[in-house]
Amino acid sequence: MTPRSFLYVVTALVLTISGVLLGQSTSKTEVQQKRFGERDGRPVILYTFKNAHGIEVSAMNYGGIIQSIRVPDRNGKFADIVLGHDTSEGYMPNPPYLGAIVGRYANRIANGSFTLDGKTYTLPKNDGPNTLHGGVTKTFDKVIWESQPLKGKNGVAFTYLSRDGEEGFPGNLKVTVTYTLTDANELYIDYQAETDKATPINVSQHSYFNLKGEGNGDILDHEIMINADKFTPVDKNLIPTGELRSVKGTPFDFTTSTKIGARIEDKDEQLVLGHGYDHNWVLNHNGEGRTLAARVYEPTTGRVLEVSTTQPGVQFYTGNFLDGSVTGKEGHVYKRRYGFCLETQHFPDSPNHPSFPTTILKPGEKFHQETVFKFSAK
Ligand code: GLA
Repeated sequence: MTPRSFLYVVTALVLTISGVLLGQSTSKTEVQQKRFGERDGRPVILYTFKNAHGIEVSAMNYGGIIQSIRVPDRNGKFADIVLGHDTSEGYMPNPPYLGAIVGRYANRIANGSFTLDGKTYTLPKNDGPNTLHGGVTKTFDKVIWESQPLKGKNGVAFTYLSRDGEEGFPGNLKVTVTYTLTDANELYIDYQAETDKATPINVSQHSYFNLKGEGNGDILDHEIMINADKFTPVDKNLIPTGELRSVKGTPFDFTTSTKIGARIEDKDEQLVLGHGYDHNWVLNHNGEGRTLAARVYEPTTGRVLEVSTTQPGVQFYTGNFLDGSVTGKEGHVYKRRYGFCLETQHFPDSPNHPSFPTTILKPGEKFHQETVFKFSAK
């Protein structure tokens, strides 16, 4: 070996070792930031990160909104598979909660009221008699979060301090949501929280997917498997009755992969109440940790989305309330069922259902949930 090539080898080794020590893989882990508008006098920042296979995610500090996810189809052709807007203003307001983090309490609380440690709390109502996705004004989807690009990883961390009494909830609740994109084509969503007074918490991610590409028609031909033997039937206000009902023999049985549209118009009482699928499935968990929640396959592009989670439930919502009144990216009009959501969560209205897994976080406890969206094509 010549002295020069020896020098090359040593330099390469040093670079590799220092990369490993810094937790970097061989892919580049540069998180791009750009100014993306303004809210309440504060800058909206859009973070964009890409993995070694070219998958690219953009998310902003306003509402923690995932603005785009670009993934390849079976021929390597990329498309943006989430509904959304080209500008931050497009999300102000955002009635369908496109791409947003929802909380403090994702999904519904009946009659905007719950009792905790003998005290009754009243929340602002925004869904008939109920509170949906945490209230009206300072909900997680409508505030600016503190934000920090991750170091040596493809991702960003968002932190929000929800003050004692905000939207009627008790306790100063500090929440951190981290998005991390891996070279295994997974988007990790990590949720952590702490409080100084006992309070209910249920956080979720409200991305609407269309695996053909956003704006590209409805999602009725997508095939979905949901890893759940039971679901929580609802009343006319979409509040769970408390029953955990077997999916067997119903249009809610997705234990084997089935087209979303195959039974969606059945004259089933629950489908009629939900105007389609807008229900919480009780995930089959064996033990602690993450479990597969759902797998969705789109036959024309071959794209697959796999969702796994530590959460006990998933709200499968088929965009029944999209009605063409929202115009999204590149002028695409989002019509009925142009996207589906898989909102991993605790069961709706848990604070009023002692038999459901608890959503009460107490001082000194650490709230931690994890959901992973994995992308592939076949
Ligand atoms: C959740 C609810 C739906 C709907 C959407 C947003 O999925 O369960 O009923 O409100 O959010 O439109």
